[in-house]
Amino acid sequence: MAAGAGLALLAALLAAAGAERSRELFEFSEAKAPSGELFYPAYDLAEFSWDSLRLNRTALTAELRGAPAADPGGAFSNGSLAFRLTAYSSAGRAARLPRLLHSAESCQLQFLLAGVAPRGNGSRFLLQLATVEAPGAARSLRSRRSIDDEYTPSIFQVLSLLAQPHNSSSVLGFLQWKATAYGSPSPRREDGIQCRAGGLQVANGTLPMASVVQAYFGESLGSSCTISALNVSFGGEEGEVYQEKRYLSWSVLLGFGEPPRDTFSPLVISIAAVALGTPLAMLLLGSCLLLLARRRRYSEYEPIN
Ligand SMILES: *[C@@H]1O[C@H](CO)[C@@H](O)[C@H](O)[C@H]1NC(C)=O
Ligand SMILES: *[C@@H]1O[C@H](CO)[C@@H](O)[C@H](O)[C@H]1NC(C)=O
Ligand SMILES: *[C@@H]1O[C@H](CO)[C@@H](O)[C@H](O)[C@H]1NC(C)=O
Ligand SMILES: *[C@@H]1O[C@H](CO)[C@@H](O)[C@H](O)[C@H]1NC(C)=O
Ligand SMILES: *[C@@H]1O[C@H](CO)[C@@H](O)[C@H](O)[C@H]1NC(C)=O
Ligand SMILES: *[C@@H]1O[C@H](CO)[C@@H](O)[C@H](O)[C@H]1NC(C)=O
Repeated sequence: MAAGAGLALLAALLAAAGAERSRELFEFSEAKAPSGELFYPAYDLAEFSWDSLRLNRTALTAELRGAPAADPGGAFSNGSLAFRLTAYSSAGRAARLPRLLHSAESCQLQFLLAGVAPRGNGSRFLLQLATVEAPGAARSLRSRRSIDDEYTPSIFQVLSLLAQPHNSSSVLGFLQWKATAYGSPSPRREDGIQCRAGGLQVANGTLPMASVVQAYFGESLGSSCTISALNVSFGGEEGEVYQEKRYLSWSVLLGFGEPPRDTFSPLVISIAAVALGTPLAMLLLGSCLLLLARRRRYSEYEPIN
C-alpha cells in the first residue's frame, strides 16, 4: 500500500524532474597559466546512451545509468554516470550522508559518477543544471549557513533553488542540497568533496531543451517560460578525493512546496547552553566573591575611638 503510493509519487516526481535536468558535464583543470582554468570538451548528456530505468520496489528507487555513445578517449570504459531517484513513504532523514531531511512529498536525487577516468591530473567536474519555469514564476538561489553540523559533519552551508510566483513569497517547488558530495558509496566524513554553486543565470534561448521538457510545457516553452542555468562544481584545491576513489555522489532533495528546514538539535542547544551558561555562572560567582571580599574588608576596619 505504502509502496504503491510511493511509486506513484516517484512517477509524478520523475515528470516534475523533467523540468529540472542536468545538461552537461564539464571537466576542467586549474591551470597555472594566467588564463585560469583549462576546460576539456564537455560531455553532453543528450549524447549519452542510457540503460533502461532500473526500479527497485522495496527501496523505492529508480536509477538511470549511461555513458557517452561515442567515447574516443575511453574515459568511460570502466565507468558510468547515473541519476538515482529515491521516494519516501514518510517524513524522516536519509540514513546515509549527507543525511538530508525529507518529507513524504519530496524525493532525493543522486548524481553518481563511478569509475570515470579523469582526463587531467587533478581535474575536477562541473555539472550544469537547467530549470524551466512556467509563466508567472521564477527561480532563485538561496544559501543558508547554520552552526549545526550534527547530521552532516563539518558542513555548515545549505543551498536551495526555489521556484516562486512573481506575485507572492510562497514556494512552489525546490531543490535543496548541502555544500558537499562524497567519494564513496558508503560515505564517511573524510570522503567529503567540496561542492560549489555558481550564480543562477537566465539562459533563455541559449540552451536547447530535450523533447520531454518540450512535451511537458508545450508551446509556452519558446515564448513565455523562463529557463535558468546553474553550474555546480565538485572538488576543491586541497583534496584529490575523486582522483583517488574514482567515485562521486551528490545528493539533492527535490519536492513541492516549502523545503524542509533543520531545527537545532537538542545536542547543539545543550552545547550552546553550556558554552553561554558557563561564563555567566562564572561572572555571577565572581561578583559574589567580590561582594564577600568587600564585606570582609569593611569588617576588618577597627572602630576608631
Ligand atoms: C532493492 O533494494 C533493497 C534494499 O536496499 C536491496 O536489498 C535489494 O537487493 C535491491 N534489489 C535489487 C534488485 O537491486
Ligand atoms: C579499466 O580497468 C582495467 C582493469 O581494472 C584497467 O586495466 C584499465 O586501465 C582501466 N581503464 C581505465 C580507462 O581506467
Ligand atoms: C600528476 O601529479 C603527480 C602528483 O602531483 C605528479 O607526480 C605527476 O608527475 C603528474 N603527472 C602529470 C602528467 O602532470
Ligand atoms: C498570483 O497570480 C496568479 C495568476 O497569475 C493568481 O491565480 C493568484 O491568485 C495570484 N496570487 C496573489 C496572492 O495575488
Ligand atoms: C525569458 O526570461 C524573461 C525573464 O527574464 C521572461 O520574461 C521571458 O518570457 C523569457 N522567455 C523568452 C522566450 O524570452
Ligand atoms: C557553466 O560553465 C560553463 C563552462 O565554464 C560555461 O560555459 C557556462 O556558461 C556556465 N553556465 C552558467 C550558468 O554559469
